[in-house]
Amino acid sequence: MSTVTVRAPAKVNLQLSVGAPRSDGFHDLATVFQAVSLVDDVTALPGDHLTVSVEGEGADDVPLDETNLALRAARALADCAGIEPRAHLHVHKGIPVAGGMAGGSADAAAALVALDHLWGLGLDRQQLAEIAATIGSDVPFALMGHTAIGLGRGERLSPALARGRFEWVLAFASSGLSTPAVYSELDRLREGGIQVEPRVSESLMAALLAGDAPGLGKAMSNDLQRAAVSLRPQLAMTLEVGDEYGALASLVSGSGPTVAFLAGDEEHALDLAVALTSSGVCRTVRRATGPAPGAKVVEP
Ligand code: C5P
Repeated sequence: MSTVTVRAPAKVNLQLSVGAPRSDGFHDLATVFQAVSLVDDVTALPGDHLTVSVEGEGADDVPLDETNLALRAARALADCAGIEPRAHLHVHKGIPVAGGMAGGSADAAAALVALDHLWGLGLDRQQLAEIAATIGSDVPFALMGHTAIGLGRGERLSPALARGRFEWVLAFASSGLSTPAVYSELDRLREGGIQVEPRVSESLMAALLAGDAPGLGKAMSNDLQRAAVSLRPQLAMTLEVGDEYGALASLVSGSGPTVAFLAGDEEHALDLAVALTSSGVCRTVRRATGPAPGAKVVEP
């Protein structure tokens, strides 16, 4: 095989409940992920060494060194297979960088699937998911897609039943937020506070099962939101626009600063997108639907 392109989705966290910090520096989570139709494409081509290039949304902010998640995924896969990592990876970004939508994780998941094909390894999804979990907490979900519950640090997944299609409007900020910084800010804000065991909301699961968008909107929550707003107070204005225009939910996505708005239907999503664009509170507005599939080969 000479070239393989794999498409992987962004995610929103319908719920993100964060527990106390663990001894390994991570936090125990109870989260519900939904993959949405905002995607990155990763093309794997034969090469003498391992290299990466990036174009598209926020490309200038993507590191091209050893910290690049697609490169890390490639090395981990080659190590596991006992081969030299020889390939060029070209990433076309549609997902904002450092936006709380797991764009880097999507690239890592796409790279795993693309290189598994290019190198003819034939690993199954479970084997790829195990490698994915060593790259980042959100990488296994980018492989799986659709809607899923994430426990542990987010990597222990079980599929969630969701009926129908949900309409999302996404407001991108002009610069990213560091995920570790947002988790640290939450710990700081919580100092001395009561910490409960994170658990998935039953009303949220019921709304998903029924395809009930208003019910889902009411049940959505994100413990990281107040930390993201504390570090980036302008986000409060973005969230207000959603409330003003009747969004079923207005919530910071993951560690932010992207804000996700749940709309009632396509027309409502269009109205919300127009209102957000003209309000000037964010850099770019995109519409997406969820759930979307996990990382998969794009047929030529
Ligand atoms: O796993 P990932 O590399 O995406 O995590 C980035 C950082 O986010 C971690 O180093 C940690 O600071 C924070 N994090 C956390 N608890 C999680 C997931 C991430 O504290 N469950």
